[in-house]
Amino acid sequence: MCGIVGYIGHREAYSIILKGLRRLEYRGYDSAGVALYDGNDIKLSKTKGKVDDLASKVSQEITTEGSLGIGHTRWATHGEPNNVNSHPHYSNSGDLVIIHNGIIENYETIKQELKNRGYSFHSDTDTEVLINLIEDVKKNENVKLGKAVQIALNQVVGAYAIAVFDKNKANEIVVAKLGSPLAIGIGKEEFFIASDASPFLEYTKNAIYLEDEEMAVIRLHKGISVRKIKDDSLVDPYIQELQLNLEQIEKGGYEHFMLKEIYEQPSAIRDTYRGRLSIEQAIIKMSGVEDNMKRFLNADRIIIVACGTSWHAGLVAEYMFEDLARIPVEVEYASEFRYRNPVISENDIVIAISQSGETADTLAAIKLAKERGAFVFGVCNVVGSSIARESNAGAYTHAGPEIGVASTKAFTTQITVLMLIALRLARAKGTISSSEFRMHMLELDLIPEKVENALKSDAHIQLIADKFKDAKNCLYLGRGYNFPVALEGALKLKEISYIHAEGYPAAEMKHGPIALIDENMPIFVIATKKGHYEKIVSNIQEIKSRKGKIIAVVTQGDEVVKELADHVIEVPETIEPLTPLLTTIPLQLLSYHMAVLLGKNVDQPRNLAKSVTVE
Ligand code: F6R
Repeated sequence: MCGIVGYIGHREAYSIILKGLRRLEYRGYDSAGVALYDGNDIKLSKTKGKVDDLASKVSQEITTEGSLGIGHTRWATHGEPNNVNSHPHYSNSGDLVIIHNGIIENYETIKQELKNRGYSFHSDTDTEVLINLIEDVKKNENVKLGKAVQIALNQVVGAYAIAVFDKNKANEIVVAKLGSPLAIGIGKEEFFIASDASPFLEYTKNAIYLEDEEMAVIRLHKGISVRKIKDDSLVDPYIQELQLNLEQIEKGGYEHFMLKEIYEQPSAIRDTYRGRLSIEQAIIKMSGVEDNMKRFLNADRIIIVACGTSWHAGLVAEYMFEDLARIPVEVEYASEFRYRNPVISENDIVIAISQSGETADTLAAIKLAKERGAFVFGVCNVVGSSIARESNAGAYTHAGPEIGVASTKAFTTQITVLMLIALRLARAKGTISSSEFRMHMLELDLIPEKVENALKSDAHIQLIADKFKDAKNCLYLGRGYNFPVALEGALKLKEISYIHAEGYPAAEMKHGPIALIDENMPIFVIATKKGHYEKIVSNIQEIKSRKGKIIAVVTQGDEVVKELADHVIEVPETIEPLTPLLTTIPLQLLSYHMAVLLGKNVDQPRNLAKSVTVE
């Protein structure tokens, strides 16, 4: 987590860094800071709070001249979020300064050794330990900054993306990466450093993404030299041309990124299946699947690993793969899977689902699966991300950048990719007929239009949100393909409005949660015509007789549930496996409006960050 930015060139570094930090705030926002070199000395300012708080502190505290600087927006791991623990951190001499995204696991031992050698520490952070280790190496071994960083990093265990500079040699920045992302933007006589490319998109489209265990010394007039941290070998870095544009990472007239991203779903879903699904030729083509078809067809089972919303997409996929392709599936929390000595065989396929492609637990889970001989297939949104690179093969979702911390379009595009895979395998295995295959493709092709239709209920949903925004607890119920949607609806509500919410398979209600129901309890029920409709109608009756408030997501034209529920929200009809793509939409909008009405920070909910790069 945490966002890092740096600049060295001919422009004023501060404004570039500040704007960059605002774009990276999704990665963490409990404190922020900058260190600038003004030609003589380092000017450093940092504070608990958001980037806006930093901007006002900077204006009172320091001058902002200088064309070299680094900045940080933090999601606290070691040390509570306060001014002292904020980054950047100085070394004891005050010559070196660092920003860090990640965790140094053995920092306590190193700290003790450094203390024994006379170093003192002001913060509780692992990062301050690292910068002093670098200083110690630099002095004792009498080496340049780059070499000192390299030697120090060979002594640490953990994860990092760091940027360091020395005020006595302020024409270079040293960066290094292991486990946390780091991009270097290459301009004309200027370089940018950032956790992702968004801070430098308007200046350059050329970027190097450092690989794990690589470091780079970036010198103003001499360029970049990239090396392997372990063996010092030189690397010829691959310079990518970025496909992103500025519009994609801006709000485009919406009040929040989350709302923009909810509304982007029709195009995001279309972009995800475009070029992969051809109705005329009656084929689905995904190179990651085609190239490994034998493996897929011979797989004993598929194990899906993911976290949070991506895990919910995995649960939907479990229904799809089993239902359509008749392949046994297990869906695992990556964090549990990696630590429980799972039984994995060479005939297993592990599908890792991750929007960011950087989630530490998912990454660790796939490394474990690979070690044990499984074939790993990644479903990621961020191109070139760690999980995408670590996987044996994969398929990207084409959702575009997702900046709102609450995942929306990532979820529906993940389901889209997983549906394409399930259908392709079902056809290859012959578990569905050619006419069923064609019917599924036709239905999928209609989904973007139907999502647009579902979005038309927005104003109605806002009124419902107003009625229930003061609830203290909410229940979400669904069955079959829509059970994971109930989980996802509850997660969306709790993470942005801080209202306690639980998702359940509707039939499980009788085994406990029904005790919670009274006239104050709003219960959101997914009750579309396809899939266990009669059963869910009975569940609604059970709630009604206990006076629960029912808000039902129903198929357009449904009259039965309308009679029973307090409120209904209609979505267009589709085939059962695709219903999650529609039923999710009103639940996303409901959470959004409830949080906005409660005055919550929708795009940056408390305690959360967009990519969870710590375990
Ligand atoms: C919820 C949310 C998180 C993520 C989870 C996994 O709205 O965004 O639960 O889904 O942290 O992240 P990725 O998909 O990046 O691995």
